[in-house]
Amino acid sequence: MNSKQPCILNPIEILSVSKRIGKINALNGISFSVSPGDIFGFLGPNGAGKTTTIRIILGLLKPTTGQVRLWNEDPWENSFSIKSQIGVVLDEPGLFEHVSLIENLIFYGKLYKLKKNTMIENIDNILSYFNLIDRKNDKVGSFSKGMKKKAALARALLVQPKLLIMDEPTAGLDPESSKELRDKIKDIAQVHKVTVFFSSHNLDEVDKICNRIAIIHRGNIIALGDIQTVRDSPSSFKKKMRFSEKQDVEKIKNMVIDILPVDMKITFDYHNDLFTVLSDKEADTSLLIAALTSNGLKIKEIYDEKASLEEVYLKCIKEAEG
Ligand SMILES: Nc1ncnc2c1ncn2[C@@H]1O[C@H](COP(=O)(O)OP(=O)(O)O)[C@@H](O)[C@H]1O
Ligand SMILES: [Mg+2]
Repeated sequence: MNSKQPCILNPIEILSVSKRIGKINALNGISFSVSPGDIFGFLGPNGAGKTTTIRIILGLLKPTTGQVRLWNEDPWENSFSIKSQIGVVLDEPGLFEHVSLIENLIFYGKLYKLKKNTMIENIDNILSYFNLIDRKNDKVGSFSKGMKKKAALARALLVQPKLLIMDEPTAGLDPESSKELRDKIKDIAQVHKVTVFFSSHNLDEVDKICNRIAIIHRGNIIALGDIQTVRDSPSSFKKKMRFSEKQDVEKIKNMVIDILPVDMKITFDYHNDLFTVLSDKEADTSLLIAALTSNGLKIKEIYDEKASLEEVYLKCIKEAEG
């Protein structure tokens, strides 16, 4: 760790990183950076390359090409000093199931050479924070999935990290446990000033807590930026329409495609009598009204709406798949 100027260095810098695993190009030259204080969501479907990226960031895998820097240091070359600044929650909780929670945490604390007195006090504080203090003498094997995740997060925080890295932290949890964990992650980032980087395939979760996101698909970053910017990207205009009478979906779709300029990329959706047109440029409402009406249709409603992150995400993926 560079102790001179940690504040102005980015916790994570990824520059043109590719990774070939066997015959698969798991990552195709991805680049992004995570700034101090970010809650950065790394969003993508299964197999997109999220875990591979995290393993590279942690220095567990060596990139085939490209550079990775954590506070300007290479995690592959310089693992211990960097890793003592990072809290990690991977897919597996990484706790011994047959021993108690407190023993697990003490074992981990010793591994990181934490001082015993402060460590015990710290463990109690962290377990209280996660509502796990009453269970500290119970074997981890007896915990629910949600409790195991909280325990894994508690363990990750024991080193008082500057950066918290998590691989799909709420995957497989029920909505209540997910929300509890999400609230904690947000609190840790904001109150305790920890930079957070986590992967997810859950848009809603990313939308709720992140300030920045990257969308990864088949080893390529297909969108990157402040969450607001990505959501409001120019390629995500949305218009909603409802007609007075029930309409054939294909007929309306073809009509709209005919009306709008040929170079406009559009995605069409229909649900509960409501037609949604997503487009990369703003569709002219008066043009649509005039053309649809002249085709004999009675328009009940037509209005613009902000595209949700989910719609932008699905649109990005659809475009990436060509
Ligand atoms: N150890 C491995 N051996 C072979 N292929 C792998 C291995 N790890 C990852 N891959 C492949 O690399 C791609 C990205 O995987 P991964 O990073 O695990 O995706 P994600 O975490 O987004 O689901 C996938 O096509 C996956 O099958
Ligand atoms: Mg994964």
